[in-house]
Amino acid sequence: MKALKLKEGIYWVGAIDWDLRNFHGYVTQRGSTYNAYLIIDDKITLIDNVKSYLYEEMITRIKDIIDPSKIDIIIQNHIEMDHSGGLPELIKLIPKATLYTNANGVKGLKRHFKQDWNFQEVKNGESISIGKRTLSFLTTPMVHWPDNQFTYCPEEKILFSNDGFGQHIASTEHFAKDLPKGIVLEEAKKYYANIVLPYSKQVQNVLKVAKGLDIHMICPSHGVIWTEENIPEIISAYINWANNVSDRHRALVIYDTMWKSTQKLAYTISEAFEEEGVSTQLMNLQTNHISDIMTEVMDAKFIAVGSPTLNSSILPTVAAFMYYLKGLSPKNKIGLAFGSYGWGGQSIPILQELLQDPKQCGFEMMEPIKTQYIPDQEELNNIKNNLRQQIKIKLEE
Ligand code: FEO
Repeated sequence: MKALKLKEGIYWVGAIDWDLRNFHGYVTQRGSTYNAYLIIDDKITLIDNVKSYLYEEMITRIKDIIDPSKIDIIIQNHIEMDHSGGLPELIKLIPKATLYTNANGVKGLKRHFKQDWNFQEVKNGESISIGKRTLSFLTTPMVHWPDNQFTYCPEEKILFSNDGFGQHIASTEHFAKDLPKGIVLEEAKKYYANIVLPYSKQVQNVLKVAKGLDIHMICPSHGVIWTEENIPEIISAYINWANNVSDRHRALVIYDTMWKSTQKLAYTISEAFEEEGVSTQLMNLQTNHISDIMTEVMDAKFIAVGSPTLNSSILPTVAAFMYYLKGLSPKNKIGLAFGSYGWGGQSIPILQELLQDPKQCGFEMMEPIKTQYIPDQEELNNIKNNLRQQIKIKLEE
């Protein structure tokens, strides 16, 4: 296992997790990488780390360049264990190395590992010299944990962005330019939707600061590295995602069904959108993972969610999705609750409330749609015509 040279004296020495398929509930169908970066300068510096079970892989790559016991400085941009798991073993090798991180990083690492390592706390905007190069720290709290920070090297114009701009992709290609663009951007969007979305306000602030930096390479802690060919594209995507920009001509119809009546409504709703020129995606919760649905939520202005009534409530699959959706907190959406019922019909007001309540999703709402038992074609036609009128009005707003 070799290190990958990014620039003279700067190497990727991370690990590839080919088998990763679940990252705390997020389906990672392409695996992932944990990216660590080695800088050979007067002070030999390692930026970030890997999961504990991949420590040996990282060390082997470092050994390809230097004896790891020569590392002087560790920069920890984030303490989550996918980037800090190998620290205890590494520090056994280099107990005198200085570990630079911010106050939340120090606090968190002490809580994780119960060790009083040679910490050096850094503040937002502070810089250190490692020889020919400077490393500046930009704290980015809540992108993704309170301890997150970026490290910027002005001489090399490299931003080490940790979770920011990451994607879960396992690959022997390490540059975005060497993989199909659609796949990389889709995985970056999925990563944003499932990891970063709740912290979009903080991302907006970070993007303002990043705008003032001359950046030729963005080295995230997951997936591939962004170079000049595609930095404008990922920055512009992040600006849109952080500002909750969605497409008024895109709708998602998310549902589960018991005896296919709610499914009939879902198809009818989809037709109404389509007939009004709104491109629509049907996502059955029995066949789509909630983390994939979240990727599609990013672009869609209209979010319709349907469930039949079960035990005076909504189906468990729909409840799980609604809980996940609320936690990830997308903004500026138009919601539509729908569902079938036999007698109580509670699923529809429950969904209406979950989508509308500012303490839940806080979406602007359309009129809910319901049907008792099994809708006939005439009822479906009426539902479609009424909904088309509502869609027309929303498109004109
Ligand atoms: Fe990739 Fe928040 O850790």
